Amino acid sequence: MQYDEHKLVEYFADAPAGVGFSDLDLNNIPHHISCIMDGNGRWATSRGLARTEGHKAGIVSLREIITACVRLGVDVLSAYAFSTENWNRPQHEVNVLMHLFAKTFIDELPLLKRENVRVVFLGDISALPKKTRDVFERGLAECADHTGMTLALAVNYGARAEITRAVRQIALDAAAGKIDPGAIDDDMVASHLYTAGLPDPELVIRTSGELRLSNYLLWQVAYSEFYVTDTYWPDFDRWGLVDAILAYQGRDRRFGGLSKTEEA
Ligand code: IPE
Ligand code: IPE
Ligand code: MG
Repeated sequence: MQYDEHKLVEYFADAPAGVGFSDLDLNNIPHHISCIMDGNGRWATSRGLARTEGHKAGIVSLREIITACVRLGVDVLSAYAFSTENWNRPQHEVNVLMHLFAKTFIDELPLLKRENVRVVFLGDISALPKKTRDVFERGLAECADHTGMTLALAVNYGARAEITRAVRQIALDAAAGKIDPGAIDDDMVASHLYTAGLPDPELVIRTSGELRLSNYLLWQVAYSEFYVTDTYWPDFDRWGLVDAILAYQGRDRRFGGLSKTEEA
């Protein structure tokens, strides 16, 4: 996606010592960056705060990463906000999160409008409390004509549920005679996922040091590069993003083949 060089330089001015912003190859920015926004609770408890304060602080990080990705010309930023397993948390925490999701979408509409950000949801938002769902639907309508970066918010998302849903839809189409089972291929499966039409993420960032996917984008990350930082999500900022992209740019992506130097 085109980026505004002036705004980019301005947003990334004053890099702290040790961040090699000038080393970034602006012609090799991932098209799709995905964030597993983890560590809000630990960020809060390490400060003697309630876990929910960590979720509030995490919103500030998301706002910064959205802006940073727009400045860098990223096409798609996806963010894991609530998993199908997160319903297992104490009811109070779930309630606060559902309220925060709705409030944040309203509060951030001016940013989404100013930056022309297109919003899509990954996951079953029909199962969310009515108030949250209503706000999401109204917000989506307000952003419907946006044509810039896509922000894909994974809310009530689980990759197994996503794949199961796709399989069910394809099976129903086959049973109804609409498709030939022999014609089922990777593209058909991908087109039944919540991410239909979006490129796979080249870079998946997980904060808070956990080395697992936690049921996130199992299909789409087949060849993604992973970057895990110990930083808790509320402390993750544009400079952490630069570090992650620099790490990505240093990777040798082989896709099962040979590296470029070996081919030569
Ligand atoms: C991520 O932070 C946000 C959600 C899962 C909603 P956590 O709440 O998982 O924070 P930790 O992992 O307990 O520190
Ligand atoms: C993954 O984090 C889900 C989100 C970041 C929304 P979790 O905190 O739920 O993952 P686990 O339980 O540590 O695997
Ligand atoms: Mg967690």
